[in-house]
Amino acid sequence: MANKRFFVIDFDSTFTKVEALDVLSDILYEGTDKKEEIGSKIKELTDQAMAGELSFREALEQRLALLDATKKDVDQLSSELKKLVSESVKRNKAFFSQEKDNVLIVSSGFKDFIAPVVKDFGIKEENIYANTFTYNDKDEVTGFDASNPLSEHKGKVKLMEELSLDGEVLVIGDGYTDYEIREAGLAKTFYAFTENIKREKVLAKADVEASSFDEILYSIKHPMATSFPKSKIKVLLLENIHKDAKQKLEDEGYQVELLGGALDEDELCEKIKGVHILGIRSKTMLTRKVVEAADRLMLVGAFCIGTNQIDLQACTDHGVSVFNAPFSNTRSVVEMAIGEIILLMRQIPRRMRQMDRGEWSKSANGSFEVRGKKLGIIGYGNIGSQLSILAEMLGMDVYYYDVVEKLALGNATKLNSLDQLLSTCDVVSLHVDGRAENKGYFTGEHIAKMKKGAILVNLARGPVVELEALQQALQSGHLAGAAIDVFPVEPKNNNDTFDAPLKDVDNLILTPHIGGSTLEAQENIADFVPGKMIEYVNTGSSFNSVNFPNVQLPRLENGHRMLHIHKNVSGILAQMNNVFAKHGCNILGQYLKTNEDIGYVITDIDQTYQPELLEDLRSIDNTIKFRTLY
Ligand SMILES: NC(=O)c1ccc[n+]([C@@H]2O[C@H](COP(=O)([O-])OP(=O)(O)OC[C@H]3O[C@@H](n4cnc5c(N)ncnc54)[C@H](O)[C@@H]3O)[C@@H](O)[C@H]2O)c1
Repeated sequence: MANKRFFVIDFDSTFTKVEALDVLSDILYEGTDKKEEIGSKIKELTDQAMAGELSFREALEQRLALLDATKKDVDQLSSELKKLVSESVKRNKAFFSQEKDNVLIVSSGFKDFIAPVVKDFGIKEENIYANTFTYNDKDEVTGFDASNPLSEHKGKVKLMEELSLDGEVLVIGDGYTDYEIREAGLAKTFYAFTENIKREKVLAKADVEASSFDEILYSIKHPMATSFPKSKIKVLLLENIHKDAKQKLEDEGYQVELLGGALDEDELCEKIKGVHILGIRSKTMLTRKVVEAADRLMLVGAFCIGTNQIDLQACTDHGVSVFNAPFSNTRSVVEMAIGEIILLMRQIPRRMRQMDRGEWSKSANGSFEVRGKKLGIIGYGNIGSQLSILAEMLGMDVYYYDVVEKLALGNATKLNSLDQLLSTCDVVSLHVDGRAENKGYFTGEHIAKMKKGAILVNLARGPVVELEALQQALQSGHLAGAAIDVFPVEPKNNNDTFDAPLKDVDNLILTPHIGGSTLEAQENIADFVPGKMIEYVNTGSSFNSVNFPNVQLPRLENGHRMLHIHKNVSGILAQMNNVFAKHGCNILGQYLKTNEDIGYVITDIDQTYQPELLEDLRSIDNTIKFRTLY
């Protein structure tokens, strides 16, 4: 029979984030002037005992003497502690119930408040070893059961000697008393648990430092280990991505490196080694060579809207999912469109130029309110539809045309032909996407079909509008004005010069592709993209991925999730299910989606599996990437 393995786990500051007696002191003295004084005295005594500087029994007696608790207070303490369970313990809840025969809580704390907390995790009552309070007939705590070995100096060692566990013992805790078990030869490995507190004296004695439970499970190759402990996930953020993004990813437990600028191809090929998650903006060229140089890369976050800088095909071929922030700056673009429409209708750009030339032209000629005017939106996507709402709030009459069926918002009117829109509207605003067919889409012919005196706005894509034809229409007076934010050729950076394509036109607004450039949009992006990254790592959800089949997955509470990315050839699902059947796995749920290139299969199973299952899944022909979540 295989050697049994026991997990001996401390409670205070290990299973929970806190020392329970500190919390009890807060409960008892909340709102009184004793709170600070007693609280710090208790902390001091706890630290002295944990660091081995004060005998345990002495520390316990002194601490209890400071606390005037009743059974009701102890019950309240349990409720508080349930909210303060360590994050990695919560994440690995399934491990505790699955290993319930082998998990022992060994604590110098009190079973009275420990049991309700750990039992929620499936830990057996008889495996909880801790002190117990004594109460009088008024349910007031009078002391503790002094015959319990855990109330004594080196109590954990005495208890472990009595238990004499037959198997391999791993001790996990933050205190010196946990190390003593290992020192006495009663455990194979002592894991100094540092998720909540790092005690240097204890760390110095550790066989292994573990900053989370994930790391412990991973290091012993436990079948319930997450495919990778979060603290080992490396994130590289380039191009000075907003600091909130770094914070969000660090809060999740990842190691994050943030660099100020972009890297060139060779630098990135070097730097990307060992990186699991890459975050870039528009200047980093993620070429096939870089993707091929990456040895751990699972996902790329583009902290911007466009993904032209990324070789999406190379990412897909290597099972790297790419996310961007498609609507983080939608509102910013819409506000700019609204502002420009109002300015153009009032001839403000013309008036400003006249003022610059020293001309005073106080006249209402050609100036209109936007109220009651007809706005035609071409492309009723994220931006177009939001513009529809805001324009309507200003009193405009909204019409739209889209190549696909889109729900009309508010009182907007859907038109079935572009010509109809052009001949109806006073303002035409383009919000189509960058698909290849849209290059040169809006020609002189379309401009000619617009109403005389109409206005054209393009904040979508540079190559969409024929600028020469627009120039002629503005000069001839067929159009009354235009706003252009995007150009067929744009400078690569702010140091390059720009040769304005439209000249000698007065009622014109030219801007350097700043439709979405606001600080709010940057903040939204810094929130949205890390959110997508974390969701993909934690659940496998690829919803909103630019290059992966989109699958939205629930978080799996109990069981294991296997994520299989493969070339889109027939028969893979059948082969996978043969492997699950061969290993006797019960499938709880299975999700499959494919695109032209790849298939993405997510399978949830409910019982422990042998490592050979993973090998068998990995070795299915045409597998690109495979990972397990729990
Ligand atoms: N100026 C800026 O700084 C800035 C900022 C953000 C986005 N953009 C650009 O704005 C555009 C719209 O962005 P979005 O987020 O609303 O995109 P989206 O994908 O949500 O919407 C595009 C819509 O256009 C429709 N469409 C595509 N081709 C069409 C055509 N030929 N005729 C009619 N409808 C067509 C699509 O069906 C879709 O509904 C994009 O081109 C984007 O690159 C510019």
